[in-house]
Amino acid sequence: MNAAGSPLLPPALEALLARRSLGVKHLVEPGPDDAALAAMAAAALRAPDHAELVPYRLRVVRGDARRRLARLFEQAARDAGKDGAAAGVDAERALRAPVTVAVLARIDLGHPLVPAHEQWIALGAALANFLNAAQALGYAGKMLSGAKVRHAALQAAFCAPGETLVGWVALGTAASPAQPGGARQPRRAKAAPADILASWS
Ligand SMILES: Cc1cc2nc3c(=O)[nH]c(=O)nc-3n(C[C@H](O)[C@H](O)[C@H](O)COP(=O)(O)O)c2cc1C
Repeated sequence: MNAAGSPLLPPALEALLARRSLGVKHLVEPGPDDAALAAMAAAALRAPDHAELVPYRLRVVRGDARRRLARLFEQAARDAGKDGAAAGVDAERALRAPVTVAVLARIDLGHPLVPAHEQWIALGAALANFLNAAQALGYAGKMLSGAKVRHAALQAAFCAPGETLVGWVALGTAASPAQPGGARQPRRAKAAPADILASWS
């Protein structure tokens, strides 16, 4: 037990329980550098993955490439009927995040052993590891998608044949350590363990 009467947990579990997302408007420089991104990708690759299919790819957008992404976000917003101001907000999302990582799925629908749903689960597990690793390295961020993942120009910009654009992980440093995703903020309550855990006989 600690001073507050809570059971002491291993630091790795404490870190998992403390993970939370932080939106783009709360992110500042620096974003993860090459070494940090490689460590995060290595953590993603440690996730459970039936038959080691690695049914995902990650594409890093940073520096000037953010301007191209911003133009594509703006175009998608306009094509979805948003006005100039609202489209500008969408464009700003690409420019504000120090690093954005596109998440692409490569689902083999005809795989003889591993059905599609297991491949999606492997992608989700990899994504969770990626986000946990980012936070362990001191970064913050959030997985985002939206209708724009179905926009043809964005799909063409990111996807090789057979790939699906899942969305983007916005990454950076928490603007304030007092913000969610910054240092040691208590995690917002979610479903309780008892909601998902029951004995079976
Ligand atoms: C594949 C995927 C796509 C998501 N897309 C969005 C999104 O477009 N907008 C959003 O606000 N949250 C989105 N989320 C949820 C957030 O990333 C985040 O998990 C959620 O806000 C809960 O916060 P937490 O991670 O701190 O519990 C998405 C999550 C996943 C896994």
